[in-house]
Amino acid sequence: MKVSIIGGGGRVGSCAAFALQCGGIVSEIQLIDANQAMAEGEALDLMHGSAFTADQRIYAGGYEEAADSDIFLITAGLRRKPDESRLDLINRNVALFVQILESIKKAGMRKDAIVFVVSNPVDILTQLAGQQLGLPWQQVIGLGTMLDSTRFSSLIAEALKVAPTQVKALTLGEHGDSMVPIWSSASINGLPLTEYPGCGPGFQNQIFTRTRGSGAEVIKRKGGAGYAVGIAIRDVIHSIALDQQRILPVSSLVQGAYNVRDVCYSVPTVVGRTGVMDQVEMKLWPKEQTGLQQSARALKETMAKVQL
Ligand code: 2OP
Repeated sequence: MKVSIIGGGGRVGSCAAFALQCGGIVSEIQLIDANQAMAEGEALDLMHGSAFTADQRIYAGGYEEAADSDIFLITAGLRRKPDESRLDLINRNVALFVQILESIKKAGMRKDAIVFVVSNPVDILTQLAGQQLGLPWQQVIGLGTMLDSTRFSSLIAEALKVAPTQVKALTLGEHGDSMVPIWSSASINGLPLTEYPGCGPGFQNQIFTRTRGSGAEVIKRKGGAGYAVGIAIRDVIHSIALDQQRILPVSSLVQGAYNVRDVCYSVPTVVGRTGVMDQVEMKLWPKEQTGLQQSARALKETMAKVQL
């Protein structure tokens, strides 16, 4: 399986490439970047490690060479300033994003290719990609709250001093300020997390507030996320590559779950070789459902402001 990373010379794109290289599942990784030297440098640095990691082809190239890609991963974009919300990014990134989509279309793409959006504001840009590329909605996926969910689970584990891989806690809705913590299904090795000692309402609020602010917390210190977002991207791509059909909190055009339509954001989504295979409306607490409706409204208001 070939993945072309548009923005592969940047922090998110190169961390995604490294996560995919260490994962050893995809067979080909092409890095595309406006800064060609950076794409070439990252590709070289990755390729140099291939003898000790996996039998993959890793190289830098242009859109023409990417036309045979199974997955177009779009990470290119301007980063948020620490005090800037993702939605504020919208107009700075829309123009760049539309140019990228035009370049993909011009060079050509397979009709079964999947477009996987990471650039922010990811939910808005995922919806734009679906509109501009004319692909079936199932073939356009956004990273959504995958990154927030790994942050949420990892922060809970660190605070409760438990094994991180045993904590499964989701956020759904927007990858942004209106994201919703899903405590109703949060678990530690299958046991209800809200029953775990120390995981009361005060703790829950504090951990979710930190989760929601984690992007800005990292940006303030190192300019932007890389490792965790690379891992989150890896998990989605592996669910596609291996047809794992995992239920993941990724962004796609919602088809009526929780009474939401005409917006892209994260609901429980079955991800397999053909992209989105199903969106599963699993039972949530009433306040969680209300949060999802509010999140959809916030995104629709922003989408209405997008100037193409
Ligand atoms: C973040 O939350 C990059 O939006 C991403 O760090």
